[in-house]
This record gives sequence, structure tokens and C-alpha cells, in this order.
Amino acid sequence: MHTIVMATQKGGSGKSTLSIGLAVAAQQAGHRVRLIETDKQGTLSNWQVRRGLVEPIVEPIYNALDIERRLQALARGGVALTIIDTASGINAATTAAIRHCDLCLIPSRPSVPDIEATAATLSVARAWRKPFAFILNQTPIRAGHRTSGATAALDESAPRDIDEVLAQPFIVMRNDHQDALAAGLSVSEFAPSGKSAEEIRGLWQWVENHLTGGIVAAVEQEAAASAYPDVEFPILLSRATRQTSTDAPASYPLSTWADAKLDLDLDSNPNAGSASSLPWDSGL
Ligand SMILES: Nc1ncnc2c1ncn2[C@@H]1O[C@H](COP(=O)(O)OP(=O)(O)OP(=O)(O)O)[C@@H](O)[C@H]1O
Ligand SMILES: [Mg+2]
Repeated sequence: MHTIVMATQKGGSGKSTLSIGLAVAAQQAGHRVRLIETDKQGTLSNWQVRRGLVEPIVEPIYNALDIERRLQALARGGVALTIIDTASGINAATTAAIRHCDLCLIPSRPSVPDIEATAATLSVARAWRKPFAFILNQTPIRAGHRTSGATAALDESAPRDIDEVLAQPFIVMRNDHQDALAAGLSVSEFAPSGKSAEEIRGLWQWVENHLTGGIVAAVEQEAAASAYPDVEFPILLSRATRQTSTDAPASYPLSTWADAKLDLDLDSNPNAGSASSLPWDSGL
């Protein structure tokens, strides 16, 4: 089973919309798909209520400690793809989801501040050496200076491999996306021959191709001493080497995280799933 996480710091960037879009596109391509929602806001669960009990089924899982076990059970049950929709920001559930994913997708609106705000998510993906890619969402119909400014900002972040970490195509802002979700559908069900559906199917194809050979942010030796590295620009990229879900991040052993009071050992910390125990909630 492949697991994709949709995560980013900024609210409203399209995590839920794209999770649903990709899940249904993958299902239409013949895969058995499950959606997991770790965001208590419940965008996916509410969508499921409007949709009825029709696949892909949404499973709300709010406790970080439950994510790995559930993913293992889904894999044993023959699910081919699980997409995890997370809340904005970084919390224990998002970190656990990234830890156990095969690909971290980071949607962003096409503005430089939005792209800069992806750094926090990227730094978690980097720590766990997970492949990642950006999705530019809600782009204008005509790719003008706004979109090229955004890709230039990304290009500065990842100058050598921008094509490999910027998903294609960009997803244009269109009412179809909002109308589809309101009807309990995905855009490729709501208007199957429309441009938005075509883009989402194209995005699924891009994602599927990248599930098997992603890109991770390279971890430099000196950065290993820092407990929770800032994402520095330019980000150095290298080919992903797949890890098992129980591995600690290659250059960031858990002891290093703990040294900085960033307790990310979710398996041994019974409080890790509760918001009050999170270091980032206390401003660290
Ligand atoms: N490509 C698009 N075209 C038009 N509207 C879009 C598009 N993508 C997302 N939206 C709309 O933008 C809003 C935010 O999208 P969405 O809820 O998917 O973002 P999110 O990142 O999940 O937000 P949150 O952080 O609150 O969970 C919604 O109203 C959604 O319908
Ligand atoms: Mg959402």
C-alpha cells in the first residue's frame, strides 16, 4: 500500500479538496482507496455525510498513536492507496502521518508568502527523509506573473530538481471544485469532462509516477547537530531511499529531537497525541 499525506502550514491551501480529488481519481483509475482525516475540522467527514456510504470511505483518526497501526491494517486488508488529510500547521498527528507516508504532498496557493509558509512542513518531511512534492493550487486560469513568481520562489528553494518536486499540472481555481464537494462528489464525478477533472486526473498520474521514485531533501552533516532544522534555501535534493516505518530519521535520531525537548517518539510517549504536550504549542 502507498500512503500519501497532504500537509501544509497554511489553512485553506486545498489539502482537503485535493485529498478528495486525488482519492477519487485514483479510485477511477482502478485502485482501492481509503481516506484518513486527522483534522478535527471534519471537512472530509462532512463530505462523506453528504456523499453517503460510497467509496472512498473516510476514517477520522485524531490520535497520532493510532495512525501507524491503522495503516498496517489497511495494507493487510488490501487497500492500495491511503491519503491522509491533515490539519493546518504541524501537530503530533501530522508529524506521525508524515513519518509513516511514502510521499508528502504540500499544496500551496501561488504566492510567495504561501510558499514560504511551507517551510515548516518541509522541515518535518526532511527530518524523516520522506519524498515530497509541492502542488500549486488555486492558480489563475492564465498562468501570468503570479504563477511564475511562485514557481520562481520554489525554484530558489530547489534549483536543481524543481521539475521533480513541483507536481504537474497546476490546479486552476474554478467553481467546479467547490460545487463538487458541496454535492458530496469529487470534481471528476461532478464534471467528468471539465478542465478541473482533467487536471486532477493529470495530477493523479503525476503523483502515481512519483510514488515509486521520489525526492527527499538532503540532510547535510552539520545540520544533523541541530535538533529541528530550519529549511535553508536553497534546499539540496537527493534521491529518496525508502525507509521502514519504524526507522528513525537517518540523520536525526530521536535522542537528538528529545535533546531539544521535541518529543517526537510517539510510540513511547502516551501524551504525544494530546495537544497540551506538543512543544510547538508552547511556542518552541
Ligand atoms: N482549485 C480550486 N478552485 C476553487 N476553489 C478551491 C480550489 N481548491 C480549494 N478551493 C476552495 O478553497 C477553500 C479551501 O480549500 P480546502 O478546504 O481544501 O483547504 P484546506 O487546506 O483543507 O483548508 P484547512 O486548512 O482549513 O483544512 C475551500 O472553499 C475550497 O472549496
Ligand atoms: Mg482541510
